[in-house]
Amino acid sequence: MSASERVTIREVGPRDGLQPEAVQPVTVRAGLVDRLVAAGVTTVEAVAFVSPRAVPQMEGAGEVLAAVERVEGVRYLALVPNAKGAELAVAAGVDGLSLTVSASAVYSQRNVRMSVEESLGQVAAVRRVVGAALPLDTVISCAFGSPYEGDIPVAEVAAIAGRATDAGSTSLTFADTTGMGGPRGVEELLAVVGVDVGLHLHDTRGTALVNAYAGLQAGVRRFDTAVGGIGGSPFAKGAGGNLATEDLVNLCDSLGLATGIDLAQLLDVSRGLADTLGHPMPSRLTAAGPSTAPTAPEKGRG
Ligand code: COA
Ligand code: ZN
Repeated sequence: MSASERVTIREVGPRDGLQPEAVQPVTVRAGLVDRLVAAGVTTVEAVAFVSPRAVPQMEGAGEVLAAVERVEGVRYLALVPNAKGAELAVAAGVDGLSLTVSASAVYSQRNVRMSVEESLGQVAAVRRVVGAALPLDTVISCAFGSPYEGDIPVAEVAAIAGRATDAGSTSLTFADTTGMGGPRGVEELLAVVGVDVGLHLHDTRGTALVNAYAGLQAGVRRFDTAVGGIGGSPFAKGAGGNLATEDLVNLCDSLGLATGIDLAQLLDVSRGLADTLGHPMPSRLTAAGPSTAPTAPEKGRG
């Protein structure tokens, strides 16, 4: 790992982060996107165009995107499960899409009510809808194990990835949807699929940051994270929150890897979000503050 290298963080707090929370108004959701961008986030999964019956928290995605103050150079993305979502996302002027496909047959049915095969078919369908130019990242859920089937062989995950690429994905992200992976599993998958991929890690079992570190050491430079460490799929048993953006930024800062995100400002966003949502953020860093902060001398102790 050489210092000055850049790590791209796709902030998924406004999407994955908010999807298991109480429904938030459009202004709050757009405001969260704007504050994250002000803290230095340049890639943000702002919304999902999904069935409002499936995920009421994501209803009004078009309105959220319309309310966001677009900043030049920032990529505003949407998650979609199918071609219909892609149509709506393009109409709302997104800069790219994430398409969810699962390596787990059971989770695929629960999440998108499609078989893995049908869901993979959406890659080509989405590509037809959006034309050649729009970036399309296929996110493969349960890539490090499934709460339903258990281990999923690396070869099976890699085969899904290969087919997504053949069908028109421009990039791939591997998701540990329910925090089942460990560093060895990360290394094993990367050895097969290469390191020009993204990692989407959940901290269900406290392994998100160590898995991210394994990815960084192997050469991965793209990560999905959510401010505060909130989030999780409502359709997966025991999803747990995302890797917290501030925890990864802190790790990258300590390794001399540039994220472009200002940690102090990001922590402000995270603390503000705790007030908005009415509960503490799972992130350790938000609770403890940065290790580099000058500490005021405490009086009357010692
Ligand atoms: N955005 C908005 N509405 C959509 C949609 C989309 N991407 N896709 C389908 N719909 C609508 C249809 O128009 C239809 O509406 P109607 O009943 O008013 O006519 C309704 O949803 C049902 O459509 P259907 O194609 O039968 O979908 P379904 O009920 O089989 O559900 C999904 C399939 C994929 C739409 C749904 O499971 C979903 O949105 N899943 C997303 C889950 C998610 O976000 N998970 C988060 C972790 S990745
Ligand atoms: Zn997730």
